Amino acid sequence: MSETSTESGATAVASLQTQLTDALGDAIAAAYPAQSGADPLIRPSDHADRQANAALALAKKVGASPREVATNVTERIAVGDVVGQVEISGPGFLNLTLTDAALWRQVEARRAGARLGVPPVAAGVRTVIDYSGPNIAKEMHVGHLRSSVIGDALARILTFLGSDVVRQNHLGDWGTQFGMLIQYIDEHPEKPWRHTEITATDADGENASTVSALDGLYKAARAVFDTDPEFADRARARVVALQAGDEATLATWRDIVKESQYAFDEVYARLGVQLTEADSAGESFYNDMLDGVAAELEEAGIAVVSDGALVVLSEEVTGPDDEPVALMVRKRDGGYGYDTTDLATIRYRIRGLGADRILYLVDSRQALHFRLVFEAARRAGWLDPERVQALHVPFGSVLGPDGKPFKTRSGGTVRLMNLLDDAVAAALTVVREGAEAKGTEVDDDALTLIAEQAGIGAVKYADLSGSRVKDYVFDVARMTAFNGNTGVYLQYAHTRMVSILRRAAERGLTVPEHVPAAVETPLEAAERGLILTLDAFADVLAEVAVDLEPHRLAGYLYELSRAFTDFYEACPVLASEGTVRDRRLAIVDLTRRTLATGLDLLGIAAPERM
Ligand code: ARG
Repeated sequence: MSETSTESGATAVASLQTQLTDALGDAIAAAYPAQSGADPLIRPSDHADRQANAALALAKKVGASPREVATNVTERIAVGDVVGQVEISGPGFLNLTLTDAALWRQVEARRAGARLGVPPVAAGVRTVIDYSGPNIAKEMHVGHLRSSVIGDALARILTFLGSDVVRQNHLGDWGTQFGMLIQYIDEHPEKPWRHTEITATDADGENASTVSALDGLYKAARAVFDTDPEFADRARARVVALQAGDEATLATWRDIVKESQYAFDEVYARLGVQLTEADSAGESFYNDMLDGVAAELEEAGIAVVSDGALVVLSEEVTGPDDEPVALMVRKRDGGYGYDTTDLATIRYRIRGLGADRILYLVDSRQALHFRLVFEAARRAGWLDPERVQALHVPFGSVLGPDGKPFKTRSGGTVRLMNLLDDAVAAALTVVREGAEAKGTEVDDDALTLIAEQAGIGAVKYADLSGSRVKDYVFDVARMTAFNGNTGVYLQYAHTRMVSILRRAAERGLTVPEHVPAAVETPLEAAERGLILTLDAFADVLAEVAVDLEPHRLAGYLYELSRAFTDFYEACPVLASEGTVRDRRLAIVDLTRRTLATGLDLLGIAAPERM
């Protein structure tokens, strides 16, 4: 009934929300056959476990008073198995009390497997997720932080929901700018940039990583390029050599890519972002597909020559001059750029990778670009919207303390690693003060590890807990606070659950595999509230799979931690006895596992102590 077996052998559990919706839906259909299929509008309630608000909406349609509708529907609700009691209140709300048996059945079913009763709703869907996408020889900035953190959370969540996820790191690894950089590097062999040559001692972080060093060399190259025409000529010749595949030039370029990847990998490792080199398919990966893409579009009449360039003119978007906006397929000089690469990329993802769904985690400023790419791909017949869903999943900016886009004092881009260091330092203070206040002894190594987990978790949680498209202020003090909707609060809640279970184990108490519902002692309000919240986990994940908003999971975990706090204050665990203690241990255990799983799906550590 409430359980169905899935291929993987895991048990999927229909949530109480679903069971109530079904039960009330049946009652509505029985009372008003013409209204069958109407949403019973099951919502949280202050007076009972849940309330159904449908009578008010139905009243108009059936020409009766809401109270009359409520009475008619109530008479047809099957009371007993799931619904224990129904009360009509106010103008016609139905207050619903669930049976203890129904509540407890959910706890036992969700405890039973590693999946916590979450059905693989995305099974059979191949999802290509394009995220992170930093540019080689350049420092990763806060925009890349958001793409990496949100993209990775979605990759983890969709994988957990059974989707076949293909991670793609669209590195910016090709372009004429590299000709200049390679030429400069060649002429200045004394300047270090490989990770084996540089040390992380530079205070401003100038040479703290290979990409910072390369960034510096690029700026130096640019300066010479602008003032020394002879160097400019040599640099231009290098661009030609690079594009022509000159072996020595390519060798240096490969080295630059490799060293940059090394620096990105350090950031990913620290952030716990599950991208590896195997997921890298940078712009250069598509180089030998570009001629074919241009030819295909031109032959199909989708790309046209305009002013010597080959462009796709949009049929949907016009610019300020009322002219159609153009996607650049081939520049007048015959070169290809970002637009062409993205056309080749979407074609490859559909034809080569067999994507059912393609997600582009790129900041909202590139919305027009993706709109044009998707339109061109549809017109070219590569993207059939009936079969494949291509989505730009945009996000807002990270703002500095002044509420403006985050910049260093000198106006430069803020180094991601420096931000992470700041957050970890703030977390260290918070965690140390917390330990001192409690009088617990924590050795320095343990403290360092906890601060790292808390600091990184704080940054990621702050990024994930707001609606994606909103900008947010990078405020280290707020992010690392123990109170409020923060990563640290959730991690701390987890440690409290671990600590209850640890103390139970010290007394020889284990959580029994099966706990019968304690018939003689009804579930208390705080237990019911926590169970109902636990039961919603799968539904929340299913929502994230649809609207791609990880903040729903973040908000859910916060709610779960608060429901746990209420439970913890009202329902003693270790000081209770018999089946009540067993059931409370089972609730704590399921809450801990749900919170740890949820944090892991957000890519956030769940420490055992803090
Ligand atoms: N490298 C780009 C940037 O830094 C992001 C790449 C996004 N992905 C894509 N397929 N265009 O803005």
